[in-house]
Amino acid sequence: MLTNLLNIFDNYIPGFRRLRQAPRQMMGISPFAGDTRPTRVPVFRRGGRPSLPFPHPWNYDQPIRILETYFWGADAETGPGRHNRYLEVPGFPAILVTRDPGIIRAIANDTGDRDGQFDRDTLPSTGIARATGKDTLLFANGATWRRQRKLAASPFGKTTLFQPEMFHEFAATFRDTVRARLNVLRQHLQDNGRRHALVPLEPEIKAVMLEMLTNNFFGAHIPYEELRNRHVPALERIIDHIVRDTVVNKLGISVRWLPRFSRRIAQANVDHACFEELTSLVLGGRKESRGLWKQFKSDAPDEALRSNLKVFLAGALEATTSYASWAISHLARNAVAQEKVFEAVKDIQEYTPENLDRAKYLGYVLDETLRLTPSLYFLPRQATADTWVETADGRRMFIPKSTHVLLDIWHANRHEDHWGVAVTGHPALDFVPERWAEMAALGRGSKEHLHFGFGHGPRVCPGKHLGQLEVGLVVGAFVKMFKFRAPGLRNEAKAGVSTKPADGTIVELELR
Ligand code: HEM
Repeated sequence: MLTNLLNIFDNYIPGFRRLRQAPRQMMGISPFAGDTRPTRVPVFRRGGRPSLPFPHPWNYDQPIRILETYFWGADAETGPGRHNRYLEVPGFPAILVTRDPGIIRAIANDTGDRDGQFDRDTLPSTGIARATGKDTLLFANGATWRRQRKLAASPFGKTTLFQPEMFHEFAATFRDTVRARLNVLRQHLQDNGRRHALVPLEPEIKAVMLEMLTNNFFGAHIPYEELRNRHVPALERIIDHIVRDTVVNKLGISVRWLPRFSRRIAQANVDHACFEELTSLVLGGRKESRGLWKQFKSDAPDEALRSNLKVFLAGALEATTSYASWAISHLARNAVAQEKVFEAVKDIQEYTPENLDRAKYLGYVLDETLRLTPSLYFLPRQATADTWVETADGRRMFIPKSTHVLLDIWHANRHEDHWGVAVTGHPALDFVPERWAEMAALGRGSKEHLHFGFGHGPRVCPGKHLGQLEVGLVVGAFVKMFKFRAPGLRNEAKAGVSTKPADGTIVELELR
């Protein structure tokens, strides 16, 4: 009865909940409960900690370090705090960071539009929303999200993409695009009369990924040079700006509204105009039902689709570039795995779903890539109500309403407890595609061991099948044409909207 009354006051009297919680927060009493209760991260601690446990203008460009800070010293713990940590500052909702795969899975499954389910937390994507608009599949929650999800289901769904005639159309154009771009690299080597060349691949991968998306998938006709030299750099700057903007621009002023005093603001405005133009070019295929537009069943006016298209363009470019760059950079440091991929793809002429499925080792490489170096390194959630979550093995955690939750995929996937020698037979931090084959042979496939690389549950990535197809094709075709190795063994990560190899995927190429 008292709890019900308090809930009513919480919901209807602004600030009531904050006030009610203040004494508990001041005394440092945990708002969490259950047998899998997180332990608290001290805000002030001397010595050794990688960073402060929240983003600010001096650490926002090192988000993985911020996450790592939550688990500083956690490996010395034996209880649930080893993988579940929280931070609470009086007057603010708690922040829960979890690298516990059971809890990650439970919260991802319990995210959606039903009463009391978790929302995707919009806090980390405020910069994205300012650049693309708020009414998007990525940013929206509740009924708006559900409506958009249904609209996207058909064009992106596996049944559409893998329908034989649709698939052949895409696979053929995708393949031609990739082959044409790789031939340019090949020609470059031959023209210089050299067998070897050191090439930073990230810009090449980005341009191919954008071309596949705009021209093949959405049926636009944008010249490659235009994509590579104008649209890709503009999108890169917009994405960099999004990350900075989320942390630094607390007032929420769009760069488009600012006077053009500095060169940076003037450039940002040019970039936004370029993004608008790209979106219009992609929308241009709709009238003639080119590419994916054939499958798009909606009478929404073009204007209403712009925000989502921008999310697809910027988001998919980031994620597919990250995924392919990591796969190539891991293979560049692992000659044996590279040769095994070559053996698996050397006779594939057509990338049919069956052929891709048969190239098992390529699949293991891609799974291992997303496990060890996930493109989206954390999934943000927010509790819309006081909630109990329960893991598949019966552990429970109470999470109070409004808690910001960071599902820390990066550290979950790299922890020895979850993916190490005792569990998979290989160290968690090593790139070992074979672990997937060995687990499958023991009947413990990817359904049991989730890497969350495409998320999980109702908000799982709708572009998963398209993305996998694109990345499989690029990596497969690349290995078929070149041998490559990295100049150094270290493979550091940089992170913004997604993670990527810090060295720009620099490799020494050699023609096969
Ligand atoms: C191949 C590389 C890709 C990776 C690794 C990837 C990863 C992810 C992940 C992890 C999520 C879940 C986020 C969360 O739970 O908070 C997600 C969601 C999403 N992805 Fe992808 N993605 C990829 C490609 C794509 C492509 C090609 C598109 C579209 C063209 C796309 C569009 C989206 C959208 C719109 C969402 C939000 C879905 C929702 O909230 O319902 N992704 N992606």
